Amino acid sequence: MPVTRKERGDWQTPAELAQGVCRLTRKFIDPDAILEPNCGQGAFVLAAAKAFPDAKRIWAGDVNAQYVQNVKKINDSRVVVQKANFFSGRWKQVLNSQSGSILIIGNPPWVTNSELARLNSGNVPKKENAENLVGIDALTGKSNFDVSEWMMVEEVKALQGRNGVLAMLCKTSVARKVLRYIWKNALTYASASIYKIDAKRFFDVSVEACLLLIQFKPETDATLAPCPVYDSLESDQPSQSVALRNETLVNDAAFTDAFPELFQLNASQPQWRSGVKHDCSKVLELTRIDGDVYLNKLGEQTTLEPLCVYPLLKSSDVANGRVEPPICRFLLVPQTRVGQSVERLQHDAPLTWTYLQNHLDYFQNRKSAVYSKQTPFSIFGVGNYAFTPWKVAISGLYRTLSFQIVKPQNGRPVVFDDTCYFLPCQTKRQAELAKQILDSPIAVQTINALVFWDSKRPIKCEALNRLNLLELAKRLGLETQYRELFKHSGTK
Ligand SMILES: C[S@@+](CC[C@H](N)C(=O)[O-])C[C@H]1O[C@@H](n2cnc3c(N)ncnc32)[C@H](O)[C@@H]1O
Repeated sequence: MPVTRKERGDWQTPAELAQGVCRLTRKFIDPDAILEPNCGQGAFVLAAAKAFPDAKRIWAGDVNAQYVQNVKKINDSRVVVQKANFFSGRWKQVLNSQSGSILIIGNPPWVTNSELARLNSGNVPKKENAENLVGIDALTGKSNFDVSEWMMVEEVKALQGRNGVLAMLCKTSVARKVLRYIWKNALTYASASIYKIDAKRFFDVSVEACLLLIQFKPETDATLAPCPVYDSLESDQPSQSVALRNETLVNDAAFTDAFPELFQLNASQPQWRSGVKHDCSKVLELTRIDGDVYLNKLGEQTTLEPLCVYPLLKSSDVANGRVEPPICRFLLVPQTRVGQSVERLQHDAPLTWTYLQNHLDYFQNRKSAVYSKQTPFSIFGVGNYAFTPWKVAISGLYRTLSFQIVKPQNGRPVVFDDTCYFLPCQTKRQAELAKQILDSPIAVQTINALVFWDSKRPIKCEALNRLNLLELAKRLGLETQYRELFKHSGTK
C-alpha cells in the first residue's frame, strides 16, 4: 500500500454507507451549513447535498489536491471545496463564520500517531497529545492515539454552545475515547449515540467501527448520561451503553450504578502486573535441551547457570489453560528489578554474563524508546512481584475470561510475556482464593462491565486493577479468608 494512503488513513467511504449515515443524521438535524473537513473523493459531500436540500452552504476540505479537484466537479452551487490541511484550522474559520445550525460529517483518517512516527510522517497535530499523557505512558505507547480522535475532539470543542451535529465514522474504540474526553473535561452536548457498522463489508478492514453521532445545543449542561450503542444504522433499540463511572469507561451503567463499590482506580490488592517486556526474544527466549544447556532463537546452544532462567508462559498458553508443568520454554531474566545493573552476574553467574555480553548488539538494536535511557540489557515488568511462587494469570489478547492458577516449576517461579497479566501470590491458598473470587458470577459481571470485548487487547491491566477484591470477597462471604490471606497486600 502506498505510504501516502497509509499516513493519510485514506479509506474512502462507499456511497451506500454515506447515504445511510445521512439518512440517520436527518433525524437529528436539518442544518444550515455542512462541513466535511476530510472530504476525500466526496462521498459524504454528494450524499449530504442530496439528503439536506435546505442546507445553504456545504464546505469541504482535504489535504489531497487530486481529491479536491475531483470534488470540485460536483455540480452544486452550494458546494465550496478547498485544499486544506485539517491542522491549519481552515475548517474552524469556516465554522465560526457560519450562523445557524451546523453539521460536521465525514470519516476522518484511520491512522495512529505511532504509525505516523513509523512512517516518519508529519500528518500530526503540533505538540499536541489527545489526553496529555506524559512520561512512561507516552513511551510505552499508552499515548498512542488515532489522528481521527484528535480531530473529533477539536470538532466537539468547536461545536460547544452551538446548534449542531457531529456525525463521524471511526473505530469504535476511538468513539469511546472521544466520549471519555468529553465526559472527563465536562464538555457539553445534548445527546450522543454509537451505531456499529460492518467495516469488513464497507472498507475491507477487520476492525470494529461505528458512526459516532453527537448532537449539540446551546445552553446544555455537562452530562454523564450513558451513550447508547446500536448494532447497526438501522437498529432502533440499543444493545449496550457506554458511560464514565468512577473515572472508568464502562459498558453496563445499570450494573455499575447498582454496585459502584466493586470497582475503583487501583482498588485491587494485590495489584495486577504485566509480564516481562524485553523485545529481545531471539536472545532471551530459550528452550531447554538438557540440564543447563539451552537453545536460543538464533539457533545457538548455550550453557547458563539456573540463577536467571525461569519457566515462561505466553498468552496462548495462559488462554488455552496450558499452564501445568512441564513448561518447556524459558526466559533469561537478567534483572530482578528495573534499572538493575547486570555486573553482579560477572561473579554470580559468569556464563550468563558472558552470554549477555556476546549478544549486547541485539539489546542495543531494540527499537522501542523505553530502552534508550536505561542500562544495557534492561527489561521491564520485573520486581519482587515477578518472582512470587504462585500467580493467577490471564491473557490480555484473547476474548475469553479465563483465569489460571500458575504454580512454580521445580521450585522456580513461572514468568509471563508482556501480553499476560497476573496477580502475584505467595501461597497456593492465596492463589486459590483469588481465583475463587475472580471466577464468581459477580466478579465476572463486574469485569464484563469494565472490558470492551471488541478492542484489540480487551483485557487491560488497568481494568483488572480496578476490581475491588475485598468488596467482592465480602459479597461472596469470603471476607475473613481474604483479609487473613492478603493482610500483607495492603488491605485494610
Ligand atoms: C478515511 S478517508 C475518508 C475520506 C472521506 N471523508 C470519505 O468518507 O470517503 C480520510 C481522508 O482524510 C484525508 N486527510 C488525511 N489527513 C488529512 C489532514 N491532515 N487534513 C485534511 N484531510 C486529511 C485523506 O486524504 C482522506 O481523504
